[in-house]
Amino acid sequence: MSKTINGFSKLTKIEKIDWLIENFFEGDKKARKILSQYWNDNKIIQDLHDDFIENTISNYYLPFGIAPNFLINGVDYTIPMAIEESSVVAAASLVAKFWSTRGGFKAEVISTVKIGQVHFMFEGNKAELQNYFNTKKKDLLKATESITKNMRKRGGGILDIELRDKTKDLQNYYQLHVTFETVDSMGANFINSCLEAIASEFEKETIRVIMSILSNYVPECLVRAEISCNVENLYADNSEFLAQKFVEAVQIANIEPYRAVTHNKGIMNGIDAVVIATGNDFRAIESCVHAYAAKNGRYKSLSNATIEKGIFKFWIEIPLALGTVGGLTSLHPLSKFSMQLLGNPTAKELMQIIAVAGLAQNFAALRALTTTGIQKGHMKMHLTNIIKGLGASETHKKFLIKYFENKTVTHNAVVEAYNKLVENR
Ligand code: MEV
Repeated sequence: MSKTINGFSKLTKIEKIDWLIENFFEGDKKARKILSQYWNDNKIIQDLHDDFIENTISNYYLPFGIAPNFLINGVDYTIPMAIEESSVVAAASLVAKFWSTRGGFKAEVISTVKIGQVHFMFEGNKAELQNYFNTKKKDLLKATESITKNMRKRGGGILDIELRDKTKDLQNYYQLHVTFETVDSMGANFINSCLEAIASEFEKETIRVIMSILSNYVPECLVRAEISCNVENLYADNSEFLAQKFVEAVQIANIEPYRAVTHNKGIMNGIDAVVIATGNDFRAIESCVHAYAAKNGRYKSLSNATIEKGIFKFWIEIPLALGTVGGLTSLHPLSKFSMQLLGNPTAKELMQIIAVAGLAQNFAALRALTTTGIQKGHMKMHLTNIIKGLGASETHKKFLIKYFENKTVTHNAVVEAYNKLVENR
């Protein structure tokens, strides 16, 4: 049987599944059940999901959790997080509570500039091109007027168009580098529509437009979040020593890319979870953040920490291009729910909240790594998962958690201890 097919997209959902089951699962009914058990009984919701993408055959759930007690710029937030990794929400909640009694998080938006480019080739005289651009610039802006009308009303629009000479890097290659303010929308469609209008106004026989597209690299769409306290208030015992270890852990991530990637992955645990919960594009955020981490030619930590005059300070500066209107944000009921939970924030407020979620996660990871190690927490989770898998009663569960408090958790050890318990009953 051939595993390729023509006209697949024209089949109904059931026909698509029939084809899959027959070709990849040897007609196994269990595979069909796996897909159908994730369908939503509510037709409106299922139709909505079916229409988000093409060839939808089921829904792929992520746990949706919340982390309360985040005090950010004096305001209390309960933060929604969509993530499959255990411990992330728990860590966020613990850290939120911890810092709520130490002044909370301070956050500020540094800039909100977004970027798009028309990439083109030109073989002629550079000065002539510059002249053409100078005389044409007004028309380029005019060509976008109908597209930018609503955005301008909301305080956004095109900030500037620049001609950039890139011929040193690639023969004949130039760009129109366009900067945008998109206020509360992520602005991808808006930016791309403007760029295409600009490109067709600019193009002529000697100018060969290659492509017009927004850049997900937005180093000037920047937010900063910070926590600080007296060093002696950071840990119950041995605070100065442990705070110093914490700072050194960040310094290591600043100079060692192998560590920096893991360090930043921990930050993204918090960031992605809120980005997804609020219906934003986590791929755009991820690609931008990592390019930013390498902006000086070497991949480094996104966060920084210092101890100065007895004050411990820990902060992050990160580019985040987010939207709070339009896109999935307004379509997905859980994204809408998340937005309402956050008090329907502006894009700037959401930037601050999400930067804080990243910093909190990084704080939790570094605090664990430089004290008990992270396996203790993970193993606790591992233990409860094994106990759950064994179908243990509540009493047995409590006994086993106590029993393994000071012992190494392995699957075999837990099964053995459980079997003994059951035998002695
Ligand atoms: C695990 O998802 C994230 C950590 O590895 C982050 C870090 O090492 O900083 C714990």
